[in-house]
Amino acid sequence: MKSLNFYLVTDTHYFEPSLGASGKEYDEYMKGEQMCLAENANIVKAVFREIANDSDADIVLIAGDLTKNGEKESHKGFIKELYKLRDAGKKVYVITARHDFNDSPRGYKNDGFVPVEGTSRSELYELYHDFGYSDATLFDEKSLSYVAEISKGVRLLAINCDGQSEKEKGSIDENLMKWIEKQAKKAKDDNCFMFAMNHYPIIPSVPIFDLVGDAKLKNWRTVAEVFPEWGINLVFTGHMHIQSVNEYINKNGKKFYDVCTSALVGSPGKYRKIEIAEDRHVKIESKDIPSFDWDLGGLSPREYLDKRFHSMIQYKINRALSGKGIKAAAGKVINKMTLKSTGRLLFIKVPKELQGEKLLDVAAEIGVSIFAGDMPYKEGNPKGELIIKGLKRFKPIIKIAEKRIIKNDNITDLADVLLRSVGKAGEFSDNDTIIKL
Ligand SMILES: [Fe+2]
Ligand SMILES: [Fe+2]
Repeated sequence: MKSLNFYLVTDTHYFEPSLGASGKEYDEYMKGEQMCLAENANIVKAVFREIANDSDADIVLIAGDLTKNGEKESHKGFIKELYKLRDAGKKVYVITARHDFNDSPRGYKNDGFVPVEGTSRSELYELYHDFGYSDATLFDEKSLSYVAEISKGVRLLAINCDGQSEKEKGSIDENLMKWIEKQAKKAKDDNCFMFAMNHYPIIPSVPIFDLVGDAKLKNWRTVAEVFPEWGINLVFTGHMHIQSVNEYINKNGKKFYDVCTSALVGSPGKYRKIEIAEDRHVKIESKDIPSFDWDLGGLSPREYLDKRFHSMIQYKINRALSGKGIKAAAGKVINKMTLKSTGRLLFIKVPKELQGEKLLDVAAEIGVSIFAGDMPYKEGNPKGELIIKGLKRFKPIIKIAEKRIIKNDNITDLADVLLRSVGKAGEFSDNDTIIKL
């Protein structure tokens, strides 16, 4: 194989503006939403323009959740943008995911919402025929997975993990596994390098996501064990709207890497430029979305997206704490708490410069930071030190949770799992790094 450059974009959640994205109902819905909606079409256009102008990479991979909720008009609008990329000389390979069909599509008009035409899963093959399927050398009709030789000696295994039922969603079933094994063997026999793209992360992006049902592929351990045995050592994923680069070493010492990329239209709003060199060094570079056609109120695109995510987290915490009686009283107290008063409650000394910060602001800041990757909250970081001390105080409760609540044999030290979820461990940066396959 020759060295290869390409772009990786995911979770574009394109929304056709003419469907309506304003009014009371829209504002209410957006309070609890991490990503943008009215802005999405303009974000996609701005990013695709950047990619079209880069003559250094002529391949674009898109890892699913192409539209907001499968609105037919959103698919049409998005596909128009894909054709512009193609006209600029780019080859585009997509997979679709659960937000691309039958997912309560609606528009927001006249202070309410209106149902709009959706898309069935069986229509997706035709709709995206020119963006992967037509180039595929092998195609699995049942799952909509395919293999395409995207460059001489390099094969993309585009896996669709939708599953055949709600219960199976986000998993690679036995039949699909057999199909993948066959394709991997064929790639080896043909002396081709093969890597994969899958919507769901295969390795949980942060350790705590192993406990969250929909945050990773259901049968992720099986897949991470066998893929490297079959010669597939690298996968690009999305779905969790998070930046992460993780390594998994299987029982035979073989390595497997998952590069998960954030949604294009929500904080931190990244996409990736990848270089796979002849010697199989994979250079991963993360790019911020450029300025797009919207009134950002004087903020940079990144600040604008972070602000939305931050207020969404606060809104959700406040909603969880609202109600009547003790819950409402507790909510009021927590809303007023600063790090100083929290420290006093837990017998933890809080550094002077942090004492005035509000507890809920810090909680939202940590949430935003987890999704941006390279989380700083570990030893040596003042807030990281506070989290470490706080977890020590809660040790007895955490031990009870470990035994009674967690049904996962692989998690034996929940405090450590929590710490590694807020403080990035390991040698690979979640944003810019080099992997040797
Ligand atoms: Fe998504
Ligand atoms: Fe998704």
